Amino acid sequence: MGLQQNIAPISYDALVQRDRVHGRLYTDPNIFSEEMDRIYHKGWVFAGHTSEVPDIGDYQRRQIGQQPVLITRDAKNDVKLLFNRCTHRGNMICARDSGNAATFVCPYHGWTFAVGGELRGMPMPGGMGSSYDKSALGLAEVPRVHIYRGFIFASLAHEGQSFDDYIGKAKQLLDRACDLSPEGEMELSAGWLKHRFHANWKMLPENNTDGYHVKVAHASLLRSTNAFGSLAFDEEKGDSSVNRDWGGGHTELDIAPRYRNTNKPFQWFGGVPEAKLPNYVARMEQTYGRELARKRMIDGPPHAIIFPNLFLAELNISFVAPVSANQVVQYYTPMLLKGAPEINARALRQTEGAMGPGSFLLPDDACLSERNQLGLAAQSPEWLDLRRGMEREYVDPENGLLSSNVSDETTNRAFWKQYLHVMSGAA
Ligand code: FES
Ligand SMILES: [Fe+2]
Repeated sequence: MGLQQNIAPISYDALVQRDRVHGRLYTDPNIFSEEMDRIYHKGWVFAGHTSEVPDIGDYQRRQIGQQPVLITRDAKNDVKLLFNRCTHRGNMICARDSGNAATFVCPYHGWTFAVGGELRGMPMPGGMGSSYDKSALGLAEVPRVHIYRGFIFASLAHEGQSFDDYIGKAKQLLDRACDLSPEGEMELSAGWLKHRFHANWKMLPENNTDGYHVKVAHASLLRSTNAFGSLAFDEEKGDSSVNRDWGGGHTELDIAPRYRNTNKPFQWFGGVPEAKLPNYVARMEQTYGRELARKRMIDGPPHAIIFPNLFLAELNISFVAPVSANQVVQYYTPMLLKGAPEINARALRQTEGAMGPGSFLLPDDACLSERNQLGLAAQSPEWLDLRRGMEREYVDPENGLLSSNVSDETTNRAFWKQYLHVMSGAA
């Protein structure tokens, strides 16, 4: 007897198969803890956006996996990612979600840090003795940070896969979103809607690019808006949206093919006539030229997952913060475009209508995720079926991406392929 624990290693190869995954992957706390370690603490994850800290002294509190961090803008106007942990005895240095400050003062013994992390001082420093070196006691910085077009990605590991290898071709998805701004940038300044769900975090990236559920789960939304959405997710329509595997676990429900068939801009924006957005159209044409601007205004924003936690949700940006095997917090904010006030005013209303707790889109998925978790408490059958579309996937000659019918599970399989790659220690 003693403290011996069950230390049999978890065999991910057995749990993640090409056409099915095991239910235990959503419920086992040991698996959750290994996911935090391998996916969130070693790999690259989305942490935030530079526009969330526009001014010197601004900060945002975040969680990377299970570790608390702060995104700040220091006195030199640089964006910093700091661990939210006092270098004295480990107290969490900042408890507010966001704000502007000259310093962070630890509530335990009063050590005081600049927003850039440097230790400024402490009460009664005389007792620190001769080894005390103030410059060595600043807040620790997150080892690797990469900012791409304002999107802040972080890795808590000192070494590992480079950002470029991690993001791969999916950089184009971030470009597609930013290029809808006539200034090429977005501003995530409206604040975040946060929803805590009793569901495993993986339900959300899986659901977000699942085209199969749309006509069933969001039937009331499709009935109450126009027929466009319904057609875009129709299995039988040859001109429908397309499911894409961008590699590295990044996945997309590409609605652009459907938009292109209409040859009309702004189908992604409720079909607003161009005449209603005259300044936006003019500024887009000014920046990108008439032809490219029109292409962008037809194609619209991406609907895509950047593995593991970022969702480019058309007119919104979203990410998930895992809490435990059965709990997650999902964040949403409207994707506001720099230099596009006409778009932004409507986008804000659309987010309120679609993503809030009493709205007509997000609650459908939230309830389904929780219900999914409830269903998985039943131990039989053990597996979740993911074979849909396996026999009709193809490599799209236009972009070289594994693609399929909008209702297929190619995106889910792509997510799990990367999951297995990372969890089995290959990444
Ligand atoms: S733990 Fe922060 S000052 Fe002591
Ligand atoms: Fe959905």
